[in-house]
Amino acid sequence: MPITYELQTPNSLSLEQAQKLLAIYGSPLYIYDGDHLRQTIDYISQAIAYPYTQFHFASVTNGNIALLQIFRDAGWGLHANTPGDIYLGLRAGFPPQQIVYSGSNLNQAEMEQVLHWGITTLNLDSLSQLQLCCEVYQSLPPSHTLPLYLGLRLNQPEINGDSRIGVRPEEFPQAIAITRQAGLQLQGLHFYRGTGTNATKAFTQVIDTILDTAQQLPDWEYLDFGGGFGYPYRHDGSAFDWHLFGKELTQRLQQLSQPIKLLIEPGRAAIAGCATLLTRVVSVKWQDSKQIVGVDTTVANLSVPAVHGGYREIVSLSSSNTNPPFLTDICGNTTYSRDYLGRNCQLPPLAIGDILAILDVGAYGYAMSSHFLHRPLPAEVLLEQQEHRLIRQREDYSVLLANQVFGEP
Ligand SMILES: Cc1ncc(COP(=O)(O)O)c(C=O)c1O
Repeated sequence: MPITYELQTPNSLSLEQAQKLLAIYGSPLYIYDGDHLRQTIDYISQAIAYPYTQFHFASVTNGNIALLQIFRDAGWGLHANTPGDIYLGLRAGFPPQQIVYSGSNLNQAEMEQVLHWGITTLNLDSLSQLQLCCEVYQSLPPSHTLPLYLGLRLNQPEINGDSRIGVRPEEFPQAIAITRQAGLQLQGLHFYRGTGTNATKAFTQVIDTILDTAQQLPDWEYLDFGGGFGYPYRHDGSAFDWHLFGKELTQRLQQLSQPIKLLIEPGRAAIAGCATLLTRVVSVKWQDSKQIVGVDTTVANLSVPAVHGGYREIVSLSSSNTNPPFLTDICGNTTYSRDYLGRNCQLPPLAIGDILAILDVGAYGYAMSSHFLHRPLPAEVLLEQQEHRLIRQREDYSVLLANQVFGEP
């Protein structure tokens, strides 16, 4: 059956649903559509026909345990950027062998912790991290019998551009020597194209170069292709073509003289579209013909639009107003000069109490929120088959005191 499902999602919440959820859980509120997430996981999984493929969700984008469990139940592993990602993955029930660590700059204690947790596949970012990993592995007690699959993160300026991450091909001989000295093999090459491009060609046109480079590793057994697949945040813009990518990658891999394992670690592409941040209008004023709308959330709850220049579509759930839209700024509930959730949006005239939906906030949304501006973080709710359940509590002010040491002298 052809896959007709589209990754991008227009807002699917009705006003009645939003009102009900805000009445139960309060505002602002992160809402995840679990059914949509499962459909997206299936869509991506089916796009790559190559038989030796394993998907790993990049939990840097979202570390909520309930959502990680959806990936786990779908048979995906986890891509860990940090020991914290591993910790969350283990708590979500991923077996350590299904968590691939591909991060950067661990100190010795952290490297020990990662191996102690039973992680067996590690893609190292530098020769010194590789050396450290080998040394730590050799120092493990004889009772630690797990094998180790080591890979290198690739830094090839022609394809990676100016990136701090990875090892250059000219360093491969040294890397092979370090690994062999420890009685291990260098079996993997990890390639990360870069952040969130919807230009499918940016991935397909480098496949041959990556495969040629990987074959410089005599013990090569797996390719980890990232990461970095785009999501169409602008709903009328271009979208990453998973089927074209899957077809071209499969074709090239099948031409290799012996089968290698393929790892794919989508982050935003898998989870961005399943979430919405609901917020209520608390203030409206006009500056000439521009509408200045104050809402009960802030860039500290969703930092991507203001801090990283990303675009997230904002729609009004309340208005059935058919007037032409007005130029509108959606402003957070602080006076921080960058506290805009959206600038120059086209929205109908709004009123206090109206509900706005900020779309596609599943990736780098809650995960990048912070206590900057000293506002406690929103709750997270999961919708599945017409049911809703809380998957993270709303914070209260006590969180602002957590770990502070104070008191009367
Ligand atoms: C190695 C690696 N893989 C995957 C990801 C997830 O990226 P994206 O959301 O662009 O797919 C990242 C993000 O930093 C990464 O560094």
